[in-house]
Amino acid sequence: MKPVKVGICGLGTVGGGTFNVLKRNAEEIARRAGRGIEVAQIATRHPNSKCDTGSTPITADIFDIVNNPEIDIVVELIGGYTVAKELVLKAIENGKHVVTANKALIAVHGNEIFAKARKKGVIVAFEASVAGGIPVIKAIREGLAGNRINWLAGIINGTGNFILTEMREKGRTFEDVLKEAQELGYAEADPTFDVEGIDAAHKLTILASIAFGIPLQFDKAYTEGIARLTTADVNYAEALGYRIKHLGVARRTEAGIELRVHPTLIPADRLIANVNGVMNAVMVNGDAVGSTLYYGAGAGMEPTASAVVADVVDVTRALTTDPNNRVPHLAFQPDSLSDHPILPITACESAYYLRIQAKDHPGVLAQVATILSERGINIESIMQKEAEVQDGLVPVILVTHRVVEQRIDDAIAALERLDDVVDKVVRIRVEQLN
Ligand code: HSE
Repeated sequence: MKPVKVGICGLGTVGGGTFNVLKRNAEEIARRAGRGIEVAQIATRHPNSKCDTGSTPITADIFDIVNNPEIDIVVELIGGYTVAKELVLKAIENGKHVVTANKALIAVHGNEIFAKARKKGVIVAFEASVAGGIPVIKAIREGLAGNRINWLAGIINGTGNFILTEMREKGRTFEDVLKEAQELGYAEADPTFDVEGIDAAHKLTILASIAFGIPLQFDKAYTEGIARLTTADVNYAEALGYRIKHLGVARRTEAGIELRVHPTLIPADRLIANVNGVMNAVMVNGDAVGSTLYYGAGAGMEPTASAVVADVVDVTRALTTDPNNRVPHLAFQPDSLSDHPILPITACESAYYLRIQAKDHPGVLAQVATILSERGINIESIMQKEAEVQDGLVPVILVTHRVVEQRIDDAIAALERLDDVVDKVVRIRVEQLN
């Protein structure tokens, strides 16, 4: 059988890795796919020193790939929302299957892209868009297809996890570690996407959609980054038996779906609390299977290429199948998507870590306790760092039981109005994940 012809758009970190893996493992891949897979053309403006492209034709114009009649599968690895969207829509229009690692594109424009792909009977595969090399999309979409998914929670930004780990373990500065993550090719072109949680929210949007059978709704995700975390809170969390991780959480409730990305205290003995460096991990809880955990490299040249190439193999195997009987893009049949609403963050429920900078006066703790109890907020643990009294101020740290966020907002507003409380109250959400 003739080999399948692939065109790679973009020869950066992931594009270079994809070319190298396809070439190095060509024989093994062909044994799996049932036929050879050949890179027929690459579009790039810059050579990649880690990639020996040999005699493979190269063009500077990505649209040459989608207009090349020889090419069956377009691999989009240029990133971004605008040109990438135009490229992918053009590829679909030309009847080509698409493999992409572009989470921003899928999270923001996926509904439109999949609708168009369905009309044309082509596949748009996007395993590499979430959690780098971990096949978590396939696991949820296919491996857990018998379950009603209750919730999922994941460390889904490698750069952010790398920064938090290096800061905690080696005391390095935020800026220094971010620079290294950029040099290693982990960070987004705009690294604020990593540190402000936007990249994680893109990925969480995709995971929630395939877990709960809802349309992609990135604009409704709540997003909070790691840039404002302090070493003091990291240390207090440790003293209370927790680790701070930047987590994406999606949970199905009666009222709607929680979709939120934020720093989170997790009990230090949970496996996911010990996922460090650029590694990612996603916990998925289904009614039949219980809790499952998927772990691996969340970014990087070959780990991400591993997911891209797996999609290329999947598409190759499906080339001759009936388009109406393929695995649906978003796991559920497109006419069976649910309109269960996404909840605003004020209606989401979690436990909370609060750090209150208070004057070292008698009765302060009683006032704090009163404000919380008046709002039905139960305190699980409390710690007052007398040893850290400075300028007559003492940090009061407490962890609450689970409560709806609106009540914590009200309590924080009331706490900040107290004469004995100075500074803003620090609030970090807490998840037990059990
Ligand atoms: N910037 C992303 C991360 C790349 O650090 O996770 C992988 O999606």
